[in-house]
Amino acid sequence: MSYINWDDTFDLGINELDEHHRHLVALLNLTYDILTQGATHDGIAEVLDELVYYTIYHFAAEEHWMKENKYPHLSQHRDEHELFCQKINEFQKDLLKQKTNLSLEVLQFLNNWLTTHILKSDADFGRFVVKSSHPQPDSN
Ligand SMILES: [Fe+2]
Ligand SMILES: [Fe+2]
Repeated sequence: MSYINWDDTFDLGINELDEHHRHLVALLNLTYDILTQGATHDGIAEVLDELVYYTIYHFAAEEHWMKENKYPHLSQHRDEHELFCQKINEFQKDLLKQKTNLSLEVLQFLNNWLTTHILKSDADFGRFVVKSSHPQPDSN
């Protein structure tokens, strides 16, 4: 059973970003599976690495879209991304130092943050793009 089920309310109507969000949800589900199946410390560190890597990649792509579309709330949105990166980096450092293990509480935080952010902040950008039919950024 999935930890988070994707549903249409997550869709922004921007294919590239929607695919990214789907992948992020899939990674959180994988993290949940690994945690609940009693994975090793290394196994958890590996999936968290992937989550961090993909989140950074996604945030950069999303901010690029916002910049190209002259989205007026870009700087506020970037601050939200930045705060999340700091938080997830703290978890990662603690895990590497073996100070803590990734717990279900941490996963709950990641899940809450991600779903709230997609449904509120990212959705606001989605509406802005759809309403104004701004162009897509160059892919390079
Ligand atoms: Fe975002
Ligand atoms: Fe996003």
